Amino acid sequence: MRLDRYLSAQGCGSRSEVRDRIRAGEVLLDGKSCRDPAADMTGHTVTLRGQEVKDRGVFCLMMNKPDGVLTAARDERCPTVMDLLPEKLRRMKCMPVGRLDKDTTGLLLFTNDGQLAHRLIAPKRHVEKVYLARTGHTPTADEIAVFSSGVDLGDFVALPARLSAAGECAARIAVCEGKFHQVKRMMAAVGNEVIELKRIAFGPIALDESLAPGAFRFLDDGELAALREAAGRSEE
Ligand code: URA
Repeated sequence: MRLDRYLSAQGCGSRSEVRDRIRAGEVLLDGKSCRDPAADMTGHTVTLRGQEVKDRGVFCLMMNKPDGVLTAARDERCPTVMDLLPEKLRRMKCMPVGRLDKDTTGLLLFTNDGQLAHRLIAPKRHVEKVYLARTGHTPTADEIAVFSSGVDLGDFVALPARLSAAGECAARIAVCEGKFHQVKRMMAAVGNEVIELKRIAFGPIALDESLAPGAFRFLDDGELAALREAAGRSEE
């Protein structure tokens, strides 16, 4: 791989920025100065300003999304989840996996693997998402039954979902779809109301409750493997 492409893919700057840095002598290949942006770096150790640039390859991270932040690349008026990531990760094409509403908090995954993201949100994969909600009233047996047979939302009938009480005026909801306002619409359709919504799991990945709102961490190898399994990569 070309040196300039590698450095750019690792989030060290745009192609033209990294070319300037290479030409300025800031980059070493196996400890020796290399001023050629087109040099092949395959199999060599790359150092930028004294720091080794390791190949991160594909990565995935989880954020504890705070309230009031949009799941969007950018917005002129409102902060977005991308604003909460360091510049370096944004440059590495790290994108959210699906969306949470502005007022929904909790687990939001990001990855630089577009194919993995696509599979995780593809309706046919049925990857389960689990939410905790503060609700207008404690879910009733009738509401629970309607959820398990499929809530009719008018424009479509939701796939069977699991609703259970999680204390007074609180619910746990597990759905395999991710349509716009899905959980809020399902609760409204059975005569209940979502007052607060937090996602606590996405497939095999549970929200790391030690993350403060707005904080993120990389998934470890085991979590990444479990996510790939859930996305069905191993089937193909
Ligand atoms: N369902 C909703 O209604 N909102 C979300 O943010 C996620 C699921």
